[in-house]
Amino acid sequence: METQIIRMDEEHIDQDAVYSAGQILQRGGLVAFPTETVYGLGGDALNPDSSRKIYEAKGRPSDNPLIVHICRFEDIFKVASEVPEAAYKLAEAFWPGPLTMILKKADIVPQETTGGLATVAVRFPSHKVALALIDAAGGFVAAPSANRSKRPSPTLAKYVEEDMDGRIEMIIDGGEVGIGLESTIVDLTGVEPIILRPGFITREMLHQVLGSVDIDKTILDGACKLPPKAPGMRYKHYAPKGELTIMEGCPELVVEAINRRCAAAKADGARVGVIATDETCHLYVADSVKSVGPRQDEEAVGRSLFRILREFDDEEMEYIYSESFGESGFGQAIMNRLLKAAGHRVEQIDKEE
Ligand code: TXA
Ligand code: MG
Repeated sequence: METQIIRMDEEHIDQDAVYSAGQILQRGGLVAFPTETVYGLGGDALNPDSSRKIYEAKGRPSDNPLIVHICRFEDIFKVASEVPEAAYKLAEAFWPGPLTMILKKADIVPQETTGGLATVAVRFPSHKVALALIDAAGGFVAAPSANRSKRPSPTLAKYVEEDMDGRIEMIIDGGEVGIGLESTIVDLTGVEPIILRPGFITREMLHQVLGSVDIDKTILDGACKLPPKAPGMRYKHYAPKGELTIMEGCPELVVEAINRRCAAAKADGARVGVIATDETCHLYVADSVKSVGPRQDEEAVGRSLFRILREFDDEEMEYIYSESFGESGFGQAIMNRLLKAAGHRVEQIDKEE
C-alpha cells in the first residue's frame, strides 16, 4: 500500500484533504494525524475491522484497548452508557484537551475497539486538525499513538512515516506536536476517580476539580507486583534500543558519575549518549549529548523526550545515561515515561564513588 502524506497546520486546514481523509476512515482505512499530545493512528471506532487493522499496523496485541476520540462533548453519550457527575466537571475544566476518561461503554462500541473490556476510553482533543478529521470521519475515531509497538510515541510526522510507511493509507503532517507525551487517563468507573496514566493534566489539576483523585500504585513504583489498571501500561513501552539508565542524586555528582560511565563504555568500544539539560549539557563527554531544554521548563522537557529517544536509536547508541527530573506536576508524567523507557533502571549517586 502506498502511504499518502499531506501537510496541514492548525491555521490552514485544507478542507478537501480533510474530506478525503474522512472518506478513507469511513471506508475502514487508516489515517495518522496530529493531536496536541502525540500523533494518533486513526480508524473508525465503530467499525471492528478498522480496529483490527490498527492492531495489525501497530504490531500491537489486540487485548490493549484503543481510545475513542470525539469532536463534540455530546458525543460522549453515544459511546458511554453512564456519564457520572465527575465526567461533566472534568469536561468543563479540561475538554477539549489532553485528558482521557474511562467510562462504562455503550453497545455501539465494538469489543474490538475496547480490547474486550466493558469500559471505553473517551478523549476530546483540542488540536484543530484532529477535530476536523474526527468530524469528517463521522465523529468517532479510535486512535492509539501512531508508533509501532514498543517504540516511543511519535511527536513528528517523520517518525510516523518511519513506523507506518506502507501500512496505512494516509499521514497528515501537522508539524511538531505541542505536548509530546500522551494524554492523562482517568478511570471514572470505580468509587473514586483513579489516574491510570499521568500526563499534562496533572494530579494537582484533577484534584482541584474533583476534590479527591487516586493514582494507580504501579505508575511510579517499579517494584510494584500488581498489574497496572490500563492494559497498555503493562507492556514494555518506549524502550530505546540502547540500555538506558537514570542517574539520580546531587547534580555535580551525577555529572561526574555519568562521565565515568561514558569513559568506561568508550574504553569498551561502545557508543554512549547522554540526556542532559541546557544547564549541564556542556559538562558531558560522550558520543552524543542531547539537551531536553532548561531544567525548570517541564513543557520543553516533555516535548523533547520521545524525540531524543528516537534520535539515539538512529545514532545506534548502545548505552544512554539520563539525568533525573522532579516528580511534581507534569514532572510525574515525564518521570513515568523515562522510567518505563529505562525499564526502571535507576542508579542512586549520593557520594563520590
Ligand atoms: O494522547 C493520547 O492519548 C494519544 C493520542 C493519539 O490521543 N493516544 C494514546 O493511545 O496514547 P494509546 O493507545 O497509545 O494509549 C492508550 C492507553 C493504553 O495504555 C490503553 O491500555 C489505555 O489507554 N486504555 C484504553 N482503553 C482503556 C480502558 N477501557 N480501560 C483502561 N485503560 C484503557
Ligand atoms: Mg501508545
